[in-house]
Amino acid sequence: MRWLAAVLALIALVAVHPAVAQDAAQPGLESGASLSPGAGGLGTSSAPADAALQKILARQRGEATDPNVSTSTTATPTVDGNSAGVIAGQIADGVNNRETYRAIRLGTEDVKTSAPNPVSRVLIQTGGMDWLNWREGPIRTYGGYFLLGVIALLAVFFLIRGRIRIAAGKSGRTILRFTFIERFAHWLLAGSFVLLALTGLFLLFGRNYLIDVMGHDAYSAGAVATKWVHDNVSWAFMVALVLVFFFWVWHNIPSPRDWQWFKMGGGIVGKGHPHSEKFNAGQKVIFWGTILLGFSVSLSGLSLLFPFELPLFAKTFSIIESTGLPGLFGFSLPVELAPQEEMQFAQIWHLIVAFLMMAMILAHIYIGSIGMEGAFDAMGDGKVDYNWAKEHHDLWVARREKKAAAKAAKRGGAGGGAVAPAE
Ligand code: HEM
Repeated sequence: MRWLAAVLALIALVAVHPAVAQDAAQPGLESGASLSPGAGGLGTSSAPADAALQKILARQRGEATDPNVSTSTTATPTVDGNSAGVIAGQIADGVNNRETYRAIRLGTEDVKTSAPNPVSRVLIQTGGMDWLNWREGPIRTYGGYFLLGVIALLAVFFLIRGRIRIAAGKSGRTILRFTFIERFAHWLLAGSFVLLALTGLFLLFGRNYLIDVMGHDAYSAGAVATKWVHDNVSWAFMVALVLVFFFWVWHNIPSPRDWQWFKMGGGIVGKGHPHSEKFNAGQKVIFWGTILLGFSVSLSGLSLLFPFELPLFAKTFSIIESTGLPGLFGFSLPVELAPQEEMQFAQIWHLIVAFLMMAMILAHIYIGSIGMEGAFDAMGDGKVDYNWAKEHHDLWVARREKKAAAKAAKRGGAGGGAVAPAE
């Protein structure tokens, strides 16, 4: 009996609780929108207050609004007991809230807060809406289509060109192409990047597309775990990026021969194999793309990982502005940014660079796996077929053989057809 009474009491409490009853008690509010009685202290029964509220809600939805409707809180709606004194005081003091908010928004108001740092002094930052619209709009939409487009192009290319075969067939002899430490660095980079890409996409698209599938609780747990993985795996990516840079930069210095490689379509599009050293021009593009985009995505990622401590954009913009280039093209970049704006630029830039890098890496994964016979072995056990190496990296093979022959001659024995070791 006591249990029944307790349950009935609980139901009664929930039924009359203001937070639950709020929607019904506030005429003029659309479903889903709510106005806490303490938020502005305005009662909602007067027509001007309703109109003002509707205008604010419409503005937040991005709809055109009627300029004749005032949203000023100095209109005289009915007010509840708690806020009456505040509003009456403002009216008596002649405070024009609209002007105050405007000054706060434009940063011209001398705001004093208990936390004495520049971040907390920004009370209203309208750029936040622009950032949200960019993130939810063009970045996500075009970024998503861009990746799908690249996957479709690769699929079409595969259907037309098929797998690039070793023209002379496999020789049965192998040559060491990458040492263990090089392969370790590559797979650390690749593994961390793939994890970062998947978790990043989960965080960007999940809210809109996965909640319906997974439910709120599962998505929330997934998002927390995903963010943890994304934040922490980033360190492995940065370490691997540095390793890969030092291992391979010497082989990726541009040379005049690279131009010839491009003219011949890399032997991928056209017929015949252009001469190539350890890395051909296409691989150099992938290498420098990985290093530069990887560096940029890491830097903007660090800026996001340590909020407000690594502002990058105001400085970068002022350097660009000092070149006079933006002026030549008829625009200018903001050289003073609120701390929050710095974070917003870092986040948008992080996404743009990440999408570019994902697209580039998709093409790289394609050519390093199903796109070309014999390529994967280079990063598998490190040894590639001799004929594959001769076809794709003839100058590198010739140099290795010359070195091996010189060593063998020094030892006073024949090379015996031995294949050159890796560099
Ligand atoms: C996950 C699937 C991946 C596969 C199957 C793969 C495969 C390969 C192979 C076979 C090579 C050696 C090519 C040769 O012998 O000349 C290579 C090189 C390389 N990989 Fe990957 N890779 C993958 C992911 C990645 C990722 C995610 C990155 C960067 C974030 C990356 C960056 C590089 C770079 C910079 C090189 C040297 C330049 C080049 O060969 O293009 N790889 N990869």
